[in-house]
Order: sequence, then structure tokens, then C-alpha cells
Amino acid sequence: MKALVYHGPGSKAWEDVPDAAVQEPTDVVVRIDTTTICGTDLHILHGDVPTVDAGRILGHEAVGTVTEVGPAVTSFAVGDRVLVPAITRCGRCAYCVKGMPSHCQTLGGIGWILGHLIDGTQAEFARIPFADTSLYAVPENVSNEQAIFLADSLPTGYEVGVLAGGVRPGHTVAVVGAGAVGLGSVLTTGLWGASKVIAIDSNKFRLETAIEFGATDTVEAGPNTVAEVLALTDGLGVDVSIEAVGYPQTLQTAAKLVRPGGTIANIGVHGVPVELPMQEMWIQNVTLTMGLVDTVSIPILLKMVASGHLPAEKMGTHTFTFDQMDEAYDVFKNAAANSALKVIINPS
Ligand SMILES: NC(=O)c1ccc[n+]([C@@H]2O[C@H](COP(=O)([O-])OP(=O)(O)OC[C@H]3O[C@@H](n4cnc5c(N)ncnc54)[C@H](O)[C@@H]3O)[C@@H](O)[C@H]2O)c1
Ligand SMILES: [Zn+2]
Ligand SMILES: [Zn+2]
Repeated sequence: MKALVYHGPGSKAWEDVPDAAVQEPTDVVVRIDTTTICGTDLHILHGDVPTVDAGRILGHEAVGTVTEVGPAVTSFAVGDRVLVPAITRCGRCAYCVKGMPSHCQTLGGIGWILGHLIDGTQAEFARIPFADTSLYAVPENVSNEQAIFLADSLPTGYEVGVLAGGVRPGHTVAVVGAGAVGLGSVLTTGLWGASKVIAIDSNKFRLETAIEFGATDTVEAGPNTVAEVLALTDGLGVDVSIEAVGYPQTLQTAAKLVRPGGTIANIGVHGVPVELPMQEMWIQNVTLTMGLVDTVSIPILLKMVASGHLPAEKMGTHTFTFDQMDEAYDVFKNAAANSALKVIINPS
């Protein structure tokens, strides 16, 4: 089969590799019908994720068809259309039982193993461990181009942003960073009846997109960001301030936007320490949340897509085939210049 293989920082190739096969009784093999690229794949290619070995097949998001089933698998059969999420789970360890498979102990303490610790989904076929507890059947009326964004970006924006931030009816919400993840938060705040959703980004295309995703207001990131958001919220600040960029400055901005009693929900992956003005914040009764996505909201999000309440397909701006993998990475890497959000990659 063919797959996108990581050959160390700055190097990857779509090339022949041994066929994916069932190795454990709980495995299935999935033929990949649609996959996509995540910002994390770009981090791996930069050499920022040293736990990824050279020779690893990249990718942790897919929709596909089961082609081979291990003897212990009971919930899936050959021919089933499935969503392969970013997080794999054993379903039985202390963290899986708690609904926190991002820390699955059976998998070595991290649920993100695909395209990280084992071969991933940017390939013609992929081996998926613990299939019964990790895969989701895709409802008939949900397309591959909708389901693919429920593998990672949408659940991240929903779980680590909207749910962790405790968005409730009538709330005002700010989302700092309108990339795929921040837009996932924008798209799902509506499910909780937020009255105002303010998207903040330095990129005008992303702000225009945010309006299409349901933002009520946009603010271009700059020296007046905080003043503009306060003006939009009667001088009070927002109930929930979501950070979806991952820089010290953007978390500091998110912290300045929240009103007393509100919540700052950090989604961004941070690479350096962040200083927060605790001398001002301690008296504000604010909550700061953070964490790795669990993807446990996927069944609910699939239902919302199936019922027409969540237009997940809006995430996909460009479509490529497997043999255009390099082009797909180039467009995604230069997303701003290409007015790109997420790419869809199909076999042909
Ligand atoms: N916690 C988790 O489980 C989890 C999972 C997936 C991704 N993430 C993280 O979420 C963050 C967002 O991911 P993404 O895929 O949407 O990334 P992205 O790069 O597509 O989006 C980031 C957005 O932030 C904007 N931005 C950059 N600088 C800004 C500034 N100073 N002010 C306002 N906006 C600014 C960019 O224009 C872009 O639109 C990343 O840090 C990513 O690593 C976290
Ligand atoms: Zn990802
Ligand atoms: Zn587990």
C-alpha cells in the first residue's frame, strides 16, 4: 500500500510501505476514504514532536471502511463506514472509565497514538487498535466530508473550549484565534445558545469565515482588541473567553477579556511558559481551564450533524487526492495565503 511517511524534520514522502494488517485481536484495518491534515502534523514535520520516530506514517484523522476485523472485535464488521478519531482508547483503564481517554493508561498514558506512536491515517489503509471502543459508526446521511472534521478539530473546539468554558444560554463568548479549532468553538457555541460570539484573529479571511460559522461580531487582533471586546459587552467583558492559538500573548489577551465570575478556556498548545497577571486576576473569581481533547463528544456531534444542526462540512476549503499529498500540505501550511481552513484528501 502507499502512505505518507515521515523521514525526520522537514522530510516526508508518499511511498510504498508494507500493508496494514491486524496484529492484535482487538484491531481492525480500515481503508481510508477521506483524511485531512492537522496543525500537529506540521509541528511533527518541523521536528517539534520528538516522540515521533522517522519511518512513522503520519495522520490521526480519517473516515474509512473496515476491511479486516480482529477475532475479538464485536461491534464492527467488514464493510462498515467508520470515523477514526484522533484519540484511541482501551475503554477499561481508570482514565477511559472516567471519560478521559486522552490519558488512556493501556496506551502508555496518551490516547493520541495514531500518526504519533503508531502508524497513522494518511495512507491507503490503517491498523486501528481497540476498534470496539475507539471507532464510531458514521450515520448514513452524514457524508465523509462532514464526518472527517469530527475526528479532531470540532471536538477540540467543543470540548476544550465550549464545554470546559461552561457556555450556557445567553452567555457572551470571545474566541481568540479563528483557525479550525477556534472556528469549531464558534460553530458549537450556538448549540448552547450563546447570545454573542466574538471572533478575534489577525487574519481577515478567518474573521469573514467566523461570521459564516455563526460569530455575531469580529475584532481584528491588535492594540485595541480588549477595548473593542469590552465595548461589545457593555464594558463588562465576556462570560467565556476561549484561547485557540497557543501563544503567551493570546492567552494574556483571552485573560483580559473575561468578566468577574467568568471562565478562560485555554485550548492552545503552548511551547513556552506564560505569565499571567495573578495580582489582578485573583480577585476576579475567574476559572482557567485547559487540557487535551478526549473526543468523547463525537457521538453527540455526529447526531447534530445528522440532524442538520451542525454544518461540519464548512471546515473543508480545499480537496486533494492521495497523489497530491505534497500539494495538500503546501496549501495547508500556507493556509492564510490560500484562504484555506482544512483540506480534504480522498484516494482519487
Ligand atoms: N488542546 C487540545 O487538545 C488541542 C487539540 C488540537 C489543537 N490544539 C491547539 O489549538 C490551537 C489552534 O489550532 P488550529 O488548528 O485552529 O490552528 P491554526 O493555526 O489553524 O489557527 C490559529 C489561528 O490563530 C490566528 N492568530 C495567530 N496569531 C494571532 C494573534 N496574535 N491574535 C489572534 N489570532 C491570532 C491565526 O491567524 C489562525 O487563524 C493550536 O495551538 C493547536 O495546537 C489543541
Ligand atoms: Zn490533530
Ligand atoms: Zn484506556
